[in-house]
Amino acid sequence: MNYLAIKHLHVTAATLSILFFVIRAYWSVTESAILQHRLVKTLPHVIDTVLLLAGVTLAAMMGANQPWILVKIVALIVYIGVGSIAIKYGKTPKTRAIAALVAILIFAYIVGVALTKHPLSWFL
Ligand code: HEM
Repeated sequence: MNYLAIKHLHVTAATLSILFFVIRAYWSVTESAILQHRLVKTLPHVIDTVLLLAGVTLAAMMGANQPWILVKIVALIVYIGVGSIAIKYGKTPKTRAIAALVAILIFAYIVGVALTKHPLSWFL
């Protein structure tokens, strides 16, 4: 697969990741049973794995070891961690809602890092 195809895969996975996250966070805050559905539980992991693997592949193909790439990897891990509080570990709907908002902000930060190729993201 060439660079552009992997980049397209990466951006598609990123779009699906945040779309599914917002929907699942809504179900989590409203305590919907759909959240326990097998597909709803597994699909996001598949998407996030594709997102990460495609990102790492792009980084390797670029051959450059720049700070913004490291920042994206770390921020993606934080996004997944805070996201799992929103979906799973948050005890009250309020905790889960706050975690969901923080995760969405982290995601917006990562998109800013991707576009500016700088850790300051939208604040550049
Ligand atoms: C939530 C996580 C992520 C999001 C939302 C995201 C988003 C994006 C977007 C929108 C682009 C396209 C930028 C452009 O068109 O100029 C991009 C490109 C890229 N991303 Fe990510 N990314 C994420 C995670 C990662 C990770 C973890 C890595 C590295 C391990 C990574 C490495 C790259 C690289 C190398 C490019 C190619 C830049 C280029 O060729 O212009 N991304 N990402």
